[in-house]
Amino acid sequence: MQRTIAPSMLSADFGHLERDTRMIDRSAAEWVHIDVMDGVFVPNISFGFPVLKAIRKATGKFLDVHLMIVEPEKYITRFAEAGADLVTFHYEATCDVHGCIELIRRSGVRVGVSIKPATSVDVLRDILPLVDVVLVMSVEPGFGGQSFIPASLDKIARLRALAQELGLETVIEVDGGISSRNAREVFEAGAEVLVAGNAVFGAEDPAAEIERMLRV
Ligand code: DX5
Ligand code: ZN
Repeated sequence: MQRTIAPSMLSADFGHLERDTRMIDRSAAEWVHIDVMDGVFVPNISFGFPVLKAIRKATGKFLDVHLMIVEPEKYITRFAEAGADLVTFHYEATCDVHGCIELIRRSGVRVGVSIKPATSVDVLRDILPLVDVVLVMSVEPGFGGQSFIPASLDKIARLRALAQELGLETVIEVDGGISSRNAREVFEAGAEVLVAGNAVFGAEDPAAEIERMLRV
């Protein structure tokens, strides 16, 4: 499995968005994680299409868009058009999981589904063959800088086992409270992509922290 780091732009300096995006563009990180929050699905509001477009202009890296919004089906196509390479919606945020998967597929980008810490991986069994990525939240979505929930490790391992049982090469991505201090156990549990906001942008040398996370 290839190990990948996805710095979360939620922790970037929005006064210097282009500078911070270019810094990630030059780093060893292969994905760039974009957190879209609506103030309804989560108790926080972040940013939308214009910011995504600005980030798209400043990097050629894989843009990983994490939608923390209700009724994602209303906006999926626009996020794909704004430059996403992967659109991930929350299982808990829609009444029409299949419709969302279908819309993302038809937009020509990769399909991701995310589950909150209290949602069991068992709900994914029937849809796993239809998605490319599962994003396991290891904090309650809404804010950067929270502590990693240790029970997430077991969820990641169970999801990896489920994918293996079904003969799938599902990419498992994990989001929340990750740094070079715990990256190793998260990778070893079966994750392939680690999101990191605070750990990267709060570091004195963000590129070095990304390298450390990859080398653990
Ligand atoms: C939280 C977001 C995360 C967040 C991670 O709702 O989905 O992507 O930016 O931030 P850290 O790495 O600081 O926990
Ligand atoms: Zn996220």
